[in-house]
This record gives sequence, structure tokens and C-alpha cells, in this order.
Amino acid sequence: MNPLLTRAEFLRLSGALLLSLSPAGHLLASDAERSPLRTRRIPASGEALPVIGVGTYRAFDISPEDREAWAACGEVLRLLFAAGGTVIDSSPMYGRAEATVGGLLDEMNAHARAFLATKVWNHGREAGLAQMEESLEYLQSGHIQLMQVHNLLDWRTQLATLREWKEQGRIRYLGVTHYTASAYPELEAVLRAEPLDFLQVNYSLDEPQAAQRILPLAQDRGVAVLVNRPFGGGNLLRRLLGQPLPAWAADYDCSSWPQLLLKFCLANPAVTCVIPGTGNPRHMHDNLQAGYGKEPDDDLAERLRGLL
Ligand SMILES: NC(=O)c1ccc[n+]([C@@H]2O[C@H](COP(=O)([O-])OP(=O)(O)OC[C@H]3O[C@@H](n4cnc5c(N)ncnc54)[C@H](OP(=O)(O)O)[C@@H]3O)[C@@H](O)[C@H]2O)c1
Repeated sequence: MNPLLTRAEFLRLSGALLLSLSPAGHLLASDAERSPLRTRRIPASGEALPVIGVGTYRAFDISPEDREAWAACGEVLRLLFAAGGTVIDSSPMYGRAEATVGGLLDEMNAHARAFLATKVWNHGREAGLAQMEESLEYLQSGHIQLMQVHNLLDWRTQLATLREWKEQGRIRYLGVTHYTASAYPELEAVLRAEPLDFLQVNYSLDEPQAAQRILPLAQDRGVAVLVNRPFGGGNLLRRLLGQPLPAWAADYDCSSWPQLLLKFCLANPAVTCVIPGTGNPRHMHDNLQAGYGKEPDDDLAERLRGLL
């Protein structure tokens, strides 16, 4: 490193360099990305899961005719895979998002690289089954790694079906999701009563309540955790992006607010993977950097809490 540069300056400059483009217009992988993302174990199986994935809410709800948006989402997935990432979260609730993921993976011949997580979001056994079959078609995959009951909707019925599908080998893992603290009492009851492989829940610097009971319980019960809404759905980032980055961000190998906020989530040991939503390659590139460098810890989380 140039001794005339401070560590913070070095990170800022190298961050700018990382955003350079290849002749084909692709974002170039950073040195860090040439080694795969950090992983954490799924307690149910011991399988290693990369700590940064991507959420498809809103940004992937596009038509293939929208060539610009289609190419951008394709580049998001290409960057994810280039970094050794795998996790793509979707839902039948997200409009055309499942079909976009399926179409792009087909174009990229990349189904084998993806850890596909989607959801069932319906009332009743037959409607749930029909929706899951439809998801497989949209995703163009005979097998889903993780099927989740979206927002606990009719969870008793849907979990029973998910157990059947798991026994039949049509899904590898099952779980439940929610996105708001008002659902935590029910989420906690389900976590205590049902054997689950995964929980997906909101957790961020501005919505940190899951750390009180839900995340420790998931850890005790051997349940992997996907974190949704790590940027508070975007609101948190909008508040922070105009502010200067604290000088100590460089001590955690962070060169942006999104990286700090993702490392805040990963500072909790119950968290297995964070799934920030984006259809913007530059944002995906930025988010992936949170899966490298210094491992986040309580000290980082405490410093960030002090900023709000
Ligand atoms: N009940 C449930 O199961 C549930 C509920 C909510 C969410 N989810 C899942 O969790 C995922 C994440 O949640 P979310 O998408 O609602 O919220 P989020 O990840 O907290 O925030 C997404 C917003 O942040 C922006 N963004 C992402 N990376 C950025 C970056 N590096 N710099 C600047 N802006 C950035 C995105 O815009 P751009 O597209 O412009 O990057 C988007 O507006 C969803 O996509 C979905 O898969 C599940």
C-alpha cells in the first residue's frame, strides 16, 4: 500500500477502481472477489452457504421485453456467481420475479450454481400445491433448494405439504418467513413448535428487534437465518447515503454504507446469509464486498447503533 495513503483513502480509491468496466461492459471482479465469499454453515446439514445473496422483490418484477432492466438483472446474477454467491430469494408474491430468475438462469446456463429460495403464499393445501408447481415452472427448475411459507400464511397446512415435498426430494430445505416485528410472537411459537431448516426475517440497524428473542431462539433450535430488509426496505439507506462514512469503517474493510449495514446483520452469529434486494449491478457489486474482509463483531454493531 502507498505509505502516503491512509487506510481509509486506500479503501475509497480501491473501491472506485473496483467499479471499472471490462470491454464487454461488465463490472470487473475485485481482487477480493477472485476468492469466494465467506460462508456460514446451515445447521440442519452442515452445508456451507455464502453470506451474501440477493432478494428479487420489486427489481426482478420486469418483462423480458424491457431489455435494459433484463440485462441489469442478468448482470446482478452474474456478479453474484462470480463472487461465489448462490442465494437468490423470490416469491410468487413478487409478480414476474420468479419468471425473470428462471429465464435469466436458463440464458446463463446457471441453474446448477444457484441456491433457489422461494415461497408458498396461499390458503389451503390444493392452492398451495398448485402455486408451488407454478413456481417450479417459472423458475425452470425441477428442484428448489429452499421453500418457505411466506408471511406465515396458512402455515400449518403449507408446512405439512413442504414436509412431503422434502421427503420426496423436491425441495432440500423448508422454512417460514416474515418481515415485521408485529409477527414475532407467532414466529416464536412456530420456531418452538416445528422443526424448521430456515427462518427468514427482517433485521437491520433500524429494525433490530429480531435480535432480542427471535435470532437467539433460531440459533438454539439449529435453524439457519436469512435476513430480509437489511436496508429497512431502502429507507435506512436513503437516510444514511448523504452522510460521510465514519473513519472507522475502514477498520472493518467497509467502503460504503451498504457494506456497513450488511456487516451489521452479519455481526449477529445467528445470521447465515443476508439477501439485500437489488436490480442494479453497481449496488450488487457494492453489497458483495460485505462478504469479505474483517469479520464483523459486537464492536461494529455497537458503533453503528451509536450513530442512530
Ligand atoms: N415476507 C418476506 O418473506 C419478505 C419481506 C420483505 C423482503 N423479503 C426478501 O428480502 C429481500 C430484501 O428486502 P427488500 O428488497 O424489501 O429491502 P432491502 O434489501 O432492505 O432494500 C432494498 C432497496 O435498497 C436498494 N439498494 C440495494 N443495494 C443498494 C446499494 N448498494 N446502494 C444503494 N441502494 C441499494 C434497492 O434499490 P436498487 O434496486 O436500486 O438497488 C432497494 O430500493 C427482498 O428482495 C425479498 O427477496 C422477504
